[in-house]
Amino acid sequence: MNTCTCAPELKEKEKQDGLKELKEFIKDYKPLHDNQGALMTVLHKVQEIFGYIPREAMDVVSEKLSVPTAHIYGMATFYNFFSLKPKAKYQIYVCKGTACYVAGGSRLLERMQEELKIKLGDVTPDGLFGLSITRCLGCCGLSPVVQINEEVFVRLVPEKIPGILEKFRKQEKKVK
Ligand code: FES
Repeated sequence: MNTCTCAPELKEKEKQDGLKELKEFIKDYKPLHDNQGALMTVLHKVQEIFGYIPREAMDVVSEKLSVPTAHIYGMATFYNFFSLKPKAKYQIYVCKGTACYVAGGSRLLERMQEELKIKLGDVTPDGLFGLSITRCLGCCGLSPVVQINEEVFVRLVPEKIPGILEKFRKQEKKVK
């Protein structure tokens, strides 16, 4: 059974290409700024290149800007626009606000976990789906509600979940 709960890793070649691009960016950017001042911009660049902040990129930034890795880690975890894990292509938010909870939000979450074979907070091994919860999406009258990227599914019942996931999988196949 394909039930790995770890996040998908970048392929080695992609990672090496990304690190090369990062080093070039720092080489051009660094002379114009002090190291501490450059850090935020450089971390944004890391996020843009990799989609998250891998450990190897932190080491490169630490070495090139002479900033301790612990400090970089602190910034990467403090600001929520940075991520230490690869993000899924389709992030699923199951609403667990009061109205959705009362209307059966927990059953939706259970079914999502069953269908995707991952736990809350994890990403499927193919990087396609990530599963999280949220507190109220502002449409309580239409509960229970699930949001997948920008799309909102209202008055959802667990039986509809396999079809919805399939729709996203098919969409992905068309893109490839
Ligand atoms: S509680 Fe779910 S939308 Fe408000």
